[in-house]
Amino acid sequence: MLPIVIASDHAGFSLKEQVKKYLEEENIEYIDLGTNSAESVDYPEYAHKLCVAIQEGKADKGILVCGTGIGMSMVANKHKGIRAACVSDTFSAKATRQHNDANVLCFGERVVGAGLAFELVNAFITTEYEGGRHQRRVDFVNSFDK
Ligand code: RB5
Repeated sequence: MLPIVIASDHAGFSLKEQVKKYLEEENIEYIDLGTNSAESVDYPEYAHKLCVAIQEGKADKGILVCGTGIGMSMVANKHKGIRAACVSDTFSAKATRQHNDANVLCFGERVVGAGLAFELVNAFITTEYEGGRHQRRVDFVNSFDK
């Protein structure tokens, strides 16, 4: 299994560090693409870095954390082959894998607590895409990459 890529801006830095500890406890390999402190940075830079890592095949799934998760998801979804979901409940974290084959999970440190974030990550990592009737729609989504 390829490692998970993870990145945040300053507003998601603290939660990213906690999620990294959770991944370590779960023996899930990850690559941290920054940021590396709570000093102010621009979230598009980190979302872009993470998406490029997936596009280059270094990972097939990523986690992005900012204040809300929204800015990160907006940037991520402008990248070819990326289907990013900004979620704050476990039902959606699971469903976006099953139905949308989401490959990037986004959430906000100002929105979710650490316990919920770990549940979102767990649902995202352990849930398989269902394919079948969803494939035509995912192909439709991907058609806008062109
Ligand atoms: C930073 O203040 C904040 O705007 C950013 O982390 C994010 O929430 C943007 O969507």
